[in-house]
Amino acid sequence: MRSYHLAFWLIFILTNPFMFVVAQQKSIDQKVDSVLRLMTLDEKIGQLNQYNDDWIATGPVTVDSDKSNQIRNGQVGSLLNCLGVERTAAWQRIAMQSRMKIPLLFGQDVIHGFKTTFPIPLAEACSWDPEAMKLSAQIAADEASASGIHWTFAPMVDIARDPRWGRIMEGAGEDPYLGSVIAKARVEGFQGDKLGGLNSVMACAKHFAAYGAAIGGRDYNSVDMSDRMLWETYLPPFKAAADAGVATFMNSFNDINGVPATGNKYLQREILKGKWNFSGFVVSDWGSIGEMINHGNVKNDYEAALSAITAGSDMDMESRCYKNNLAKLVNDKSVPIALIDDAVRRILVKKFELGLFDDPFRFCNAEREKKALNNPEHPKTARQIAAKSIVLLKNENQLLPLSRNIKTIAFIGPLVKAVKQNKGFWDVDLPGVDSNFIVSQWEGLQNKVGETTKLLYAKGCEIEGNNTDGFAEAVNMAKQADVVILSIGERRDMSGEAKSRSNICIPGVQEDLLKVLLATGKPVVVLINAGRPLVFNYTADHAQAILYTWWLGSEAGNAIADVLFGDYNPSAKLAVTFPRSVGQIPIYYSHFSTGRPASSDDNHNYNSSYLDESIFPKYAFGYGLSYTSFAYSNLHVSAATINRNEQIVASVSVTNTGKYEGEEIVQLYLRDKVGSIARPVKELKDFRKVLLKVGETKTIKFIIDNEKLSFYNQNLEWVSEPGDFELMIGASSEDIRLKGAFQLVD
Ligand code: GLC
Repeated sequence: MRSYHLAFWLIFILTNPFMFVVAQQKSIDQKVDSVLRLMTLDEKIGQLNQYNDDWIATGPVTVDSDKSNQIRNGQVGSLLNCLGVERTAAWQRIAMQSRMKIPLLFGQDVIHGFKTTFPIPLAEACSWDPEAMKLSAQIAADEASASGIHWTFAPMVDIARDPRWGRIMEGAGEDPYLGSVIAKARVEGFQGDKLGGLNSVMACAKHFAAYGAAIGGRDYNSVDMSDRMLWETYLPPFKAAADAGVATFMNSFNDINGVPATGNKYLQREILKGKWNFSGFVVSDWGSIGEMINHGNVKNDYEAALSAITAGSDMDMESRCYKNNLAKLVNDKSVPIALIDDAVRRILVKKFELGLFDDPFRFCNAEREKKALNNPEHPKTARQIAAKSIVLLKNENQLLPLSRNIKTIAFIGPLVKAVKQNKGFWDVDLPGVDSNFIVSQWEGLQNKVGETTKLLYAKGCEIEGNNTDGFAEAVNMAKQADVVILSIGERRDMSGEAKSRSNICIPGVQEDLLKVLLATGKPVVVLINAGRPLVFNYTADHAQAILYTWWLGSEAGNAIADVLFGDYNPSAKLAVTFPRSVGQIPIYYSHFSTGRPASSDDNHNYNSSYLDESIFPKYAFGYGLSYTSFAYSNLHVSAATINRNEQIVASVSVTNTGKYEGEEIVQLYLRDKVGSIARPVKELKDFRKVLLKVGETKTIKFIIDNEKLSFYNQNLEWVSEPGDFELMIGASSEDIRLKGAFQLVD
């Protein structure tokens, strides 16, 4: 190229950022091409092979004695569950001995924090605070990347409407809109503005797809679902993650209508890599390629590898099907080398974007690791986010917040002095790091009250079992106290992966313990610790106050104490419906009307109700109390009719009518009254979390455009249809404060 041409192009690229990015990307694509051209088939297949490291397992383990040699021979592209700068650097040094010197990717389930543990994702979702969840992910990424991790297998964005499913704890609840907002926030938090930042990691939208709809709430079970339900309810958070630039996807263990997600071309090729034009890569879930044999879709590993690579699964986590069969599949002409090259390319692009080819050890800085894992700001943030995740379910006679003048508190229950329980499932158990940084609930209360209030303790009973021997001591402590705080619930490993429960009551004799404590006549505040909605009707109907504390992470004790004493006014609202009984499941707010809708529990005359159970949940989606109260007024809808190119502005005033400053989550629901496909009785379409001082009023404006009026029709086209729309402003999906209406016209 002539010098003046070169000068022109240089000036053009440097003065045009987009061109600069394109030039940069172009250089990565060119680099990948050049690396691909040099690779043998065996080395290409190596990049598609991911092994677990040898010490922590999050699935059924196969130990390879010669892992080092395989890495040295370029037969491994990634390791998971390998923690710490020292260990990741050691494996990376072996990878640098390979012929091509392609760096390893280190992946880890950094689901809700790394060392600093944040509330479980379902708890954080109840904060309805995307900025908080983004910050939580940013801190997790800062700590993980400082410890040699390049890639987190998060956010889990599976919609879940069945609390029997233990992994409901890992997502953002039942609603596609809220789930999409949260998916975006978490991807941006983990990945930062651009991949390759030293303080960020690649994110992974999982589990693609519809894993949360497992029949019976049994983990790994089949999913039977219409395409329309898939598109309307289960795909939106994945699309939001893809639109947010998520680097990777992970497919799910389940089949959808008999086709395992791992071998599902419709999902991975047609939707993800086709319609959505996803340029990242897809990793299979642990062993899921080989598990297609169990599904009964393939006869053997050879067929499993064929099915998965054809369907778009790029990297094989732990099944070894790719390592053992892809070369033969290519040589048998069953798999075109182009498919292999596409998968390898997708992975190499990410390794370039992470800067690993420039410096494979850029995330291996021991000094930085030590500093990041002991950053004093991280626990402070974790404490704030934990407080935002606590849902106040009941507060009879304003028992809470507790007064600082209380003389004696009896803090009772099997979880009061628990330490690691507070981390919930999917915590990262760092080797060599003891758990004294976790603030137990007992410690948190001690920190709060110091010497001013006498604290009494009794365990009362275990979490499980029917032993009531500890009741007497607990009652004795209660009788000496002005108020009782009872901390009960599940064990942290009773929710999470492979933790489905058919009975979601509070286990053991814990509610019996509440009964004997209530019999003392003392007021009782109940803390419920769980990874899922539980059924606890006795507690709900008899305790004076209830805080749903989920699993709040390493600052649990301090956050709970902050809320108990009003240093933080609880603002969280449920991101998932709480059933009265397991017999109601699935129960969710955005249901269809049906041809014989039931509107009360009093009438069973040929309508859609139960003879023996209410049709209403115990606690509704979007429900949560505050120590203050809020009044809604002045709903104004800017127009009575709009066409598809116009917008409506719905404005509403919210006033703090109580005694405490507080935050209110104002929810906008719409109902399309008539559609070619029946529309739900209401759907969340927007929300605002607003802070109000005592007596303060703020006006909130919601913009309603055609996108918010659209749905998938019979042909799966995303359309809006003219007709009447009901507009609802709610403090929850059940507590609709103001209603409006408008028409969409052609
Ligand atoms: C597990 C989980 C998945 C996780 C992976 C690696 O089986 O299903 O969510 O990321 O294996 O630990």
